[in-house]
Amino acid sequence: MVTDQVWKLPAVVNRFLAHRAAIPLAQEQIGVMTSILKSRPEPIESFLDLGCGDGILAAAILGEYPSSRGVLADFSESMLEQAREQLKEYAGQLVFENLDYGDPAWIKRMQAYSPFDAIVSGYSIHHQVDARKREICAEIFALLKPGGWFVNIEHIAPAAQLATDLFNHHLIDGYYAIEQRSGGARTREEMANLYLNRPDKDANKLLSVEVQCSWLRAIGYEEVDCYFRVYELAVFAGRKPR
Ligand SMILES: C[S@@+](CC[C@H](N)C(=O)[O-])C[C@H]1O[C@@H](n2cnc3c(N)ncnc32)[C@H](O)[C@@H]1O
Repeated sequence: MVTDQVWKLPAVVNRFLAHRAAIPLAQEQIGVMTSILKSRPEPIESFLDLGCGDGILAAAILGEYPSSRGVLADFSESMLEQAREQLKEYAGQLVFENLDYGDPAWIKRMQAYSPFDAIVSGYSIHHQVDARKREICAEIFALLKPGGWFVNIEHIAPAAQLATDLFNHHLIDGYYAIEQRSGGARTREEMANLYLNRPDKDANKLLSVEVQCSWLRAIGYEEVDCYFRVYELAVFAGRKPR
């Protein structure tokens, strides 16, 4: 199986969603995303959540902007099913698109909905090779309204081995805590094995946040920065000039 295609497997989807709470400072990362979006003088009226998973980022945007219209895009039908269920109260203002943004043709599918006030993505674009990652950043720029934001909550390559070690320790502790809370009997070592040998791990193609921010600047985004960083996770963003 092509590595990123593992996300189409219900077992991979269920494992990710069951352990998402183990991600270090995950809510804070989403808080940074919404703070960036709220820096706009105008409300968000339209947004795209790229690689939406169960729609956790879209849910946060809808919490702040309950009348916004959103497109949730993912190539995993299992994830889209979860997103439809999680966000059913907003069904009338959302569109769910099963698409692969690895194929540049994806932007044609967005023409009916663009331009957007915001495009967000969570732990997703790092599954692409670096050259394609950069192209996607440029494609997103083209889909934004002037003044629109791209916020990427992303798994990135750290400079230090210690950052990876601390990240892994945190995730394993989190997996183990979730196991204990749910009354499971697996040991910390078993949970470490589950985490370290997860099937989607080989799909990760991590790249430093510094390189990715430099791309955003070169593409033409402004206010580009890494707004939050913990171990291997970063929230970086840029705004399309008005
Ligand atoms: C780690 S999950 C994150 C889900 C969600 N954004 C979150 O923050 O919880 C990565 C998501 O990206 C999706 N994905 C990965 N590569 C994709 C691609 N080429 N096209 C569309 N979706 C993709 C996967 O199906 C999965 O739902």
